[in-house]
Amino acid sequence: QTVEAHELMKVFVTRRISPEAMKILTTAGVCEVSLWDSEEPAPRSELLKGVQGAHGILCMLSDEIDAEVLDAAGPNLKVISTLSVGYDHLALDEVKKRGIRVGYTPDVLTDATAELTVALLLATARRIPEGLEEVKNGGWSSWKPFWLCGNGLSGSTVGIIGLGRIGMAISRRLMPFGVKRLLYSGRTAKPHATEVNGEFVPLDTLITESDFIVVSCSLTPETQGLCDKAFFSKMKNTAVFVNSSRGAVVNQEDLYEALSSGQIAAAGLDVTTPEPLPTNHPLLTLKNCVVLPHIGSATYSTRRTMLALAVRNLLGGVQGTEMPIILTL
Ligand code: NDP
Ligand code: DGY
Repeated sequence: QTVEAHELMKVFVTRRISPEAMKILTTAGVCEVSLWDSEEPAPRSELLKGVQGAHGILCMLSDEIDAEVLDAAGPNLKVISTLSVGYDHLALDEVKKRGIRVGYTPDVLTDATAELTVALLLATARRIPEGLEEVKNGGWSSWKPFWLCGNGLSGSTVGIIGLGRIGMAISRRLMPFGVKRLLYSGRTAKPHATEVNGEFVPLDTLITESDFIVVSCSLTPETQGLCDKAFFSKMKNTAVFVNSSRGAVVNQEDLYEALSSGQIAAAGLDVTTPEPLPTNHPLLTLKNCVVLPHIGSATYSTRRTMLALAVRNLLGGVQGTEMPIILTL
């Protein structure tokens, strides 16, 4: 046997991960692991340093993996395993050019993300954060007929932009609230839409006819900035907009205008540009805008499962064997 056959594969993990996930990684006995041992992202310079000579990288959605990082890693790099289903932070053309495999974490986070999206929709539509605030600041003077009223789901029309795994799971959860029509848009009609009586419609129809619009598509060059001035100007004044996909699907200046001018009723965002959203951002001054810190998949069990999957993807990738969930490039 050659000396190389005994060499451990170098992997770089861009964030502190759970002891359980570390155990899977280390007990496999095939890797020399280096880790950015912090809850916070590695500064760019540390990321570029950490990946040097790596055979595998386990990264987060906040790590921009572009040509510079791939060049810094060098020719050893065989796999990038991201702890996310979204992969818009990876320069896929560069990754493909270099023959690197990509692992990601679809499905295991679908339920948690759909649940959070529904919670955000209800919180936004029924003005729950505003109500909490009024209770605390003394604004609750008495029961009043129209105080803190919103609009409910019963009898409404819901529009889902991107009826993929998460869009479908959101729809399944919304239908029992008495939704009358479920519209969806995307590149192609989905056979699975029949389960929720989904109607495949042109985007303009979805925008003009929906009482609730939920964005659950992936971020692509086509969806970047999709929700802009023209989009919001076609929405009903009473409609609620919810985004749990990626911040960049929305033009936030246009959203601010639509919310502050009364063009639309309210917005709930789990994702923004940038993340974190600066605390002095204009959107945060609006009562009718509910912003969450990208917590769609944040349940303990989901994150544990995502981590275990990401580690197994990494291990398969560095050994050149099967990866549990590989992204088709
Ligand atoms: P899927 O790939 O299953 O679904 C993505 C959907 O986006 C597809 O149905 C696709 O439809 C649609 N889509 C693509 N292009 C367009 C377009 N131009 N217009 C409308 N729809 C389009 O992915 P998931 O459902 O698993 O995840 C979706 C996204 O959710 C992720 O990419 C990620 O960004 C985000 N996410 C956010 C989380 C959070 O914490 N907030 C948690 C998890 C995911 P078609 O096939 O017709 O192109
Ligand atoms: C993803 O997986 O893409 C989410 O944004 C975080 O879980």
